[in-house]
Amino acid sequence: MNKITSLFNIKYPIIQGGMIWNSGYKLASAVSNAGGLGLIGAGSMYPEILREHIQKCKNATDKPFGVNVPMLYPNIEEIMKIIVDEGVKIVFTSAGNPKTWTSFLKENGITVVHVVSSSVFALKAQDAGVDAVVAEGFEAGGHNGREETTTLTLIPMVKDKISIPLIAAGGIATGRGMLAAMTLGADGVQVGSRFAASVESSSHDNFKQIVVALQEGGTQLTLKELAPVRLIKNKFYQDVQQLYEKCPSKEELVSLLGRARAKRGMFEGDLEEGELEIGQIAGLIKDILPAKAIIDTMIAEFEQAKREVVRFDF
Ligand SMILES: Cc1cc2nc3c(=O)[nH]c(=O)nc-3n(C[C@H](O)[C@H](O)[C@H](O)COP(=O)(O)O)c2cc1C
Repeated sequence: MNKITSLFNIKYPIIQGGMIWNSGYKLASAVSNAGGLGLIGAGSMYPEILREHIQKCKNATDKPFGVNVPMLYPNIEEIMKIIVDEGVKIVFTSAGNPKTWTSFLKENGITVVHVVSSSVFALKAQDAGVDAVVAEGFEAGGHNGREETTTLTLIPMVKDKISIPLIAAGGIATGRGMLAAMTLGADGVQVGSRFAASVESSSHDNFKQIVVALQEGGTQLTLKELAPVRLIKNKFYQDVQQLYEKCPSKEELVSLLGRARAKRGMFEGDLEEGELEIGQIAGLIKDILPAKAIIDTMIAEFEQAKREVVRFDF
């Protein structure tokens, strides 16, 4: 047992990050059934779709699972009401102020975790009363902090500042990465990209195939003026870069982004015009595996790496 396994009542301190267009009930329940903590990604779901996924997840697993809610969400009040109505026990919030919803969720008996990209935000989350913090480094897939703090530097700095449990995210896809993060002071890890390339991920097969074919350096953090996001360098990304050469206004960037780019890319499989979010660690991911195989492999690698590390001698 450690702080994270006991906080969530799970076997392994591995959390599958909530991911728009990737983490529906199939992925979340498969991760939870394999001993990790699966999260349904509410960010790409209309409220009634989220309700359906929560109900299906309850039928697919008797293990704990949670919901990730990016707080930029337009229907946030409805989303939170559904979460409470459906008896969800764990919520990970991101992209917003942790003060806004933490007390409401806690009053309803929900364990609350907030995702941050700096130690200043980690302290704010702790002060807001969350049960744990996810500290997510610059390497991570999806939306990210502006400061570009890497996981290797972020985790020990956050660890110094907070006393509540700490979950590391960004660049972790193997048991070795997990051991490294936990050596730096994390109590558990949140893994995104590795689970995006899983059998149970709801993303389009075209997206999964481009992820496993990606080489080191295949992604870049961009659109910092809107909401910084790490993207695969496809045609849409090149269009964004071309626009940057003309010193665009924020409105011009918003207009190029348009609507539903992420859905088009990750869910509908348009690899040219769509927005394709993935982390730097995709360069290491070479196969699309079932969630259980990903977790079992990570745990075996973690144990192996631990044995190797104690043999180091200077
Ligand atoms: C395709 C994709 C979509 C994501 N969507 C969300 C999201 O909706 N909410 C959120 O808090 N984080 C989101 N993330 C971040 C993940 O939850 C996780 O923290 C991150 O992927 C960890 O870094 P890694 O990709 O290096 O494993 C997303 C990541 C990816 C790759």
